[in-house]
Amino acid sequence: MRWSYFIVIQCLIIFVMIGIFYIHQDKVIVLKKPPESISQWYKPQNKRQVWLHTMFKLRREMLAIKIYAKTQNDENLEKWVEKLNKDYYEIGEMMPEWKNKLDLISVADIQKSIKEQRYDEVIHALDELDKSCQSCHTDFRATTATIYRAPDFSEMKIDDSITLISHMRTMSKQVNQIKIAFADSRLDAALSALSELEKGMNNLGGICINCHKDASKEFPNEEMIQTMADLKQSLKTGSLKEQGKALGTLAVLACAECHGTHRLTYDAKKLLSNKKSWGELLKHSF
Ligand code: HEC
Ligand code: HEC
Ligand code: HEC
Repeated sequence: MRWSYFIVIQCLIIFVMIGIFYIHQDKVIVLKKPPESISQWYKPQNKRQVWLHTMFKLRREMLAIKIYAKTQNDENLEKWVEKLNKDYYEIGEMMPEWKNKLDLISVADIQKSIKEQRYDEVIHALDELDKSCQSCHTDFRATTATIYRAPDFSEMKIDDSITLISHMRTMSKQVNQIKIAFADSRLDAALSALSELEKGMNNLGGICINCHKDASKEFPNEEMIQTMADLKQSLKTGSLKEQGKALGTLAVLACAECHGTHRLTYDAKKLLSNKKSWGELLKHSF
């Protein structure tokens, strides 16, 4: 008797959970997260991006086999299928958690069809194998790339006392101070905020070199410096419209371009890496 109560209660709980999830399905995003052990195949845990490079090899091997099946080149087929076989099994060696996602039957089919010179079958089996590639990619490709390859700004500092995010807030204030000041014809205030922003940009430039070793991402670059000079000039002599245009151009060049790459991917990385507890999620009303 007790057991039947227990089972009924369990079923009720499960129904309630499914119900809650169903009601909120258009308000939450559910993503599959790759097992954390995949980090060992990425920098900085590994010297190279081993996982990604295995993937590039697989794509090349699939293409090579397709090319040589079409031209019926047995010697090259043998060579490339051996590589494909090795690298495909490597997925399961690197990530035992994902072994069950592999389609070993199709790999065996490709090998067998090559031996038996049934070239159409080779291509058919390749297409079948590709389904297993796509299926894992649908679940894990974007999340893995974002979590493990998006540049990380969490430890970045402008100097010992200023974090990147507080520097961002200061620069944002300066941009708006310029706008407010020229809209109210306070020239000196606008010029002084611009000169603070210029210093802030120079300081920010120091962190780009950590990753962009060549000078191509110099910050501020020549175009930004020229735009700042234009803005200064138009603050002194230009119309409100010209001032607005110059400030807008500066914000696109100096802020929006980097945000389009770095803030977007870093935000996504943070969202996906965040270990949110259910309690925390429930605290926020939907
Ligand atoms: C068990 C999961 C899994 C399987 C199976 C798998 N992949 Fe991947 N693949 C991934 C993940 C995860 C990524 C994302 C890696 C990254 O971007 O850092 C990826 C990325 C890739 C990329 C890079 C994508 C791009 O456009 O930048 C290629 C190419 C690729 N895989 C090819 C293949 C091929 C070909 C196969 C099948 C023969 C395959 N993969 C099977 C998990 C898998
Ligand atoms: C933590 C390392 C890192 C830092 C610091 C960094 N970047 Fe990047 N940046 C990258 C990587 C890696 C890419 C390549 C694209 C990607 O993977 O997101 C990139 C791409 C870019 C791009 C887009 C691609 C292109 O070539 O136009 C811009 C713009 C950019 N960075 C600007 C900057 C600026 C400006 C700074 C300094 C204020 C900076 N980055 C600091 C790593 C970094
Ligand atoms: C590295 C390239 C880069 C450049 C150049 C850049 N930003 Fe950012 N910005 C970031 C990143 C990364 C974040 C996210 C920081 C975080 O969430 O910790 C960010 C966040 C911000 C934020 C949000 C701060 C908050 O409270 O969440 C503001 C505002 C901002 N930036 C303003 C600016 C302005 C204004 C400029 C131009 C003068 C600028 N940024 C230039 C990368 C950049």
